[in-house]
Amino acid sequence: MTDAPMPAHYADPDLVALYDLEGRRGDEESFYLPPAFARRLRVLEAGCGTGFLALVLAGQGHKVTALDPATSMLATARAKPGADAVTWVEGDMRAFALPDRFDLIVLTGHAFQVLETDADIAATLACFERHLAPGGWLTFESRNPLVEGWRTWTREQSAMTLEHPRLGPVEAYWTGQPSTEPEIIDSVAHYHFTRTDNRKISRSRLRFAPQATLVRLLTEAGFTDIEVEVTRRYSLQDVAESGGGSAVASLSADERADIEGKFVSAFIRARKLTL
Ligand SMILES: C[S@@+](CC[C@H](N)C(=O)[O-])C[C@H]1O[C@@H](n2cnc3c(N)ncnc32)[C@H](O)[C@@H]1O
Repeated sequence: MTDAPMPAHYADPDLVALYDLEGRRGDEESFYLPPAFARRLRVLEAGCGTGFLALVLAGQGHKVTALDPATSMLATARAKPGADAVTWVEGDMRAFALPDRFDLIVLTGHAFQVLETDADIAATLACFERHLAPGGWLTFESRNPLVEGWRTWTREQSAMTLEHPRLGPVEAYWTGQPSTEPEIIDSVAHYHFTRTDNRKISRSRLRFAPQATLVRLLTEAGFTDIEVEVTRRYSLQDVAESGGGSAVASLSADERADIEGKFVSAFIRARKLTL
């Protein structure tokens, strides 16, 4: 993410108002809170946005702190029912200092992918490591770059009309394409507020880091017990047919064997040493 301005869809109140209507929600809670996590936990959600997961976890009785640098996203979160049960913190996951220690740090909605460089990821993991209790867990998900999912981020495939009670109908779509920098996808979200004929765009950059890079950076930061859970399995043929043909063609036979049937989004769990 470097220190570029926050994308408008996290900063502009009108675009933040649309965030929860865009239907990006998956079924990630089941990964973040498997049965082993049934007891009451001290949880930090980093990159909490409008607070979806933080509020679910607080509703389940966990003691939740939720961190995000975007004032408007946090304001939306704070206005939701049940928000009083969560401690909301405006802050950057690459550099924050809280007095608390947590049993679990989670990132959802692919928030981890806003971290653009190895240095951003290393700084974040170091911060997380300092804030985890011994033996505490970090869980997050990241999209598999081999699938080249951004190829479906086209106007034709992403167009939707959002109905907002105050702003009226908004036609939205987004596009994505590889940047000149490796592993970075430049994305542009387009919004047309038809009632006022006002148009806004939001530019953002997301990193699609290979699984091996994530595992390496976690290991270097001192995490152990690193697990990757495959959520949706795709064959290499599926990948090629979904537009990832060039990525598949460049793989060696060993890499193909290694990747066949692997993840689209990896759900990654790692543990801080107990010592
Ligand atoms: C795709 S949204 C996900 C929000 C939320 N987790 C969800 O699932 O709806 C990414 C979030 O990351 C936040 N973010 C961006 N840079 C960040 C940083 N350096 N530290 C913490 N959060 C950040 C954005 O403000 C935004 O709320």
